[in-house]
Amino acid sequence: MCGIVAYVGNKPAQNILMQGLRRLEYRGYDSAGILVVTKNKKLKRVRSVGNVDELQKKLKNQKLAGAIGIAHTRWATHGGVTEKNAHPHFGQQGTVALAHNGIIENYQYLKQKYLANHKFKSETDTEVLAHLIEKFHAKLSLKKSVEKTLGLIGGTYGLVVISAKEPDKIMVARSGSPLAIGLGKNQNIIASDATPILPHTRKIIYLDDGEYAEITAEECQIYRLGTKGEIDKKAQKIDWTMEQAQKAGFEHFMLKEIHDQPIVIMDAVRGRLRPKEGSARMGGFNMTDLQAQKIKQITLLACGTANYACMVGKYLFERLAQIPTNAEIGSEFRYRNPVIDNKTLVFSVSQSGETLDTLVSQREAKRKGARVRGIVNVVGSTIAREADGGTYIHAGPELSVASSKAFTNMLMILTLYAVYFGRLRKMSFETGSKIIKEIQKLPGKVNQILEQAQAIKKAAKNYAGYKNMLFLGRGINYPIALEGSHKLKELSYIHSEAYPAGEMKHGANALLDPKFPVVAIATKNNLYEKMISNLEEVKARKSPILAVATKGDKKIQQLTQDVIYVPKTIEILEPVLNVIPFQLLAYYSACELKRNVDQPRNLAKSVTVE
Ligand code: G6P
Repeated sequence: MCGIVAYVGNKPAQNILMQGLRRLEYRGYDSAGILVVTKNKKLKRVRSVGNVDELQKKLKNQKLAGAIGIAHTRWATHGGVTEKNAHPHFGQQGTVALAHNGIIENYQYLKQKYLANHKFKSETDTEVLAHLIEKFHAKLSLKKSVEKTLGLIGGTYGLVVISAKEPDKIMVARSGSPLAIGLGKNQNIIASDATPILPHTRKIIYLDDGEYAEITAEECQIYRLGTKGEIDKKAQKIDWTMEQAQKAGFEHFMLKEIHDQPIVIMDAVRGRLRPKEGSARMGGFNMTDLQAQKIKQITLLACGTANYACMVGKYLFERLAQIPTNAEIGSEFRYRNPVIDNKTLVFSVSQSGETLDTLVSQREAKRKGARVRGIVNVVGSTIAREADGGTYIHAGPELSVASSKAFTNMLMILTLYAVYFGRLRKMSFETGSKIIKEIQKLPGKVNQILEQAQAIKKAAKNYAGYKNMLFLGRGINYPIALEGSHKLKELSYIHSEAYPAGEMKHGANALLDPKFPVVAIATKNNLYEKMISNLEEVKARKSPILAVATKGDKKIQQLTQDVIYVPKTIEILEPVLNVIPFQLLAYYSACELKRNVDQPRNLAKSVTVE
């Protein structure tokens, strides 16, 4: 995720763009850049590693005078955190510049096919677009060059393009990454969300995927790829406050991040699935297939929510690849004498990449000769840097203290690794292919669950008054019961615990009574009948039951007070769907109890102390 802002009008662009970048910093902050078209039609650019403050410092001594420009704040995907990789990027001649949010999947192909003799200054996928548009622009108008390029791109983009040869306009385009256009008087401003726009105008057009526009100070013409002529798109009047706009209209970052999931799930797997091999491949893994085949055991290191993702990972690695796997809590692992060696693969799994207990455990594992890889969200973070390779989960910035989308993307990456290892061992092509096909259906299925948010809100109202709750799951869904319970307690402060349902008879049954509700995952998998028997026992003790069940399961209604239905998927992917109702349940319970949802008491987003 990155932030884009562009301005064309009758005011100095620099200040407007810099203010815009500040509002978009939550979308990425590992580098930033600004480019303005000067009065003598030169494209003048300043870039800096670090956040917008760093860019501002650089601009102190060099003013960019001009009334049209583009700017970008980066969340690195392709290419490290360096000034060379910071946007905006130029074409080869320096007459076209652009800023991009998204991932161009076929940039290697485009490079080879159209730009074989070009020299590139960065490692980014984006620079290829700047070169391509500029190349076409030698003969075509900027608009036609952008159109032609869009027709060749595979991947996602929010794009703003500027040309020294047509210095009065900005071309913008969207596919998969958001772009909004603010319509002002003799000025127009474009951005990744409404926040940079609102100080200037409240008339906003949100581009949809496949749409692109040619924008001058006075005009905004919108087009759709594959159709001829301008399309008629009405501007909306946005009444949001600045904070509401940053949350894209959601009440809290937590709710926004929960709703980001259908998109970020695809960002996690994009370019990593290998349908022709029935497998997956992670670019930064830094291990040959032969080396990977020799791995004898896997240790997953993490804390908090990331640890629950790792517990799912244990099921996945053992089930799909038959590799003995342990999910270890960082704060415990570092003080034990763990059995690991150079045939052990260690994954450190962390949203922030800074959690101290995970980091120190990673160092301990390295000391013992293990091969250490990161599964991390924040690009360039310490865990990512110190690991000998790894995979970014591409969840985008997660601002709510309680993790949601980072968790699902950790599940996605662990699943891809399990498929990869499985295929190197005994897993068949058919099984691998089936998993890949089901992965591709997940975003739509997550959307179907999110559509039930109001029903879950109603259920949360029914349960928020209780003092204690018990979450039950079995098999691969047991860690999801743990995560559901964890989410509920950290957001709503309701005491809850989680059990593998088969273990109830050994103790937790004693807790059951009408004041002790049970939340159960009872989806249709190979343990369904067992779970139903467990719930019969709960019902007999008169505890109210809220179940997460598979769409179409009527039988479950005889046992439960409330049911949240999720679409059917294969068992190994159930955790990705089953956690969503729990995130919403915790969120709405916290709202009902008027908790500080995005910043629960006594907690912190990134725990860099012991
Ligand atoms: C904190 C956060 C949790 C998070 C945990 C691990 O406790 O509040 O949401 O799961 O740290 O963080 P990490 O950044 O390593 O995933």
